[in-house]
Amino acid sequence: MSLPAKTPQQSFTIQTHLVMPNDANQLQNLFGGQLMAWMDEVASITAFRHCGNVAVTASINNVSFTQPIPLGSYVILESKVSRAFNTSMEIYVDVFLETRDGHRSKCNEGIFVFVAMDENLKPLPVPELVPETEEEKKRFASALRRKQLSLVLGGRMKPNDATELKELFTSINQ
Ligand SMILES: CC(C)(COP(=O)(O)OP(=O)(O)OC[C@H]1O[C@@H](n2cnc3c(N)ncnc32)[C@H](O)[C@@H]1OP(=O)(O)O)[C@@H](O)C(=O)NCCC(=O)NCCS
Repeated sequence: MSLPAKTPQQSFTIQTHLVMPNDANQLQNLFGGQLMAWMDEVASITAFRHCGNVAVTASINNVSFTQPIPLGSYVILESKVSRAFNTSMEIYVDVFLETRDGHRSKCNEGIFVFVAMDENLKPLPVPELVPETEEEKKRFASALRRKQLSLVLGGRMKPNDATELKELFTSINQ
């Protein structure tokens, strides 16, 4: 029996953190590894809310740090499933910086892949995702390309089998 489909809103997760001295690097900005840990954690909660099971991080496909986050800032992480495949889910984490005067700006983004697991550590099927907003539809549409790229880079797929990416890996003369 197939699982009932879900919308991104049903597993949407927000976390807010205050950047404390323990979280900072030598330049008094948030340490990148700390932010990655927060992102992985919020994404794992989203994955659990979507599939109803424990899910493990299979890959982190893109993380960009576009601006430093100073000590004492508020950091807001928003996490949403962008596409569900068979047993894996792609999850976007958007990170915002809120200064003490209330100004909010996007400072970071990460794309995570989680796999739902049973108690014997075997991958489990996950519910389909039905995107609703324009942004959700865009991220859904491009997720297969990112999945194939991640599998090729991880040595789990031959470039020739990557239907969405063939032109990136094969020369014009082939
Ligand atoms: C990720 C993991 C569950 C994959 O297990 P596996 O036995 O190889 O299972 P499969 O080959 O059936 O892959 C399961 C799903 O993961 C996806 N997947 C696996 N590696 C992936 C990668 N690098 N990028 C994107 N998707 C990946 C597969 O495409 C498949 O998705 P689908 O079923 O939706 O099509 C396994 O490698 C694992 O347990 N890794 C450790 C996870 C962990 O401990 N994370 C915390 C890090 S400290």
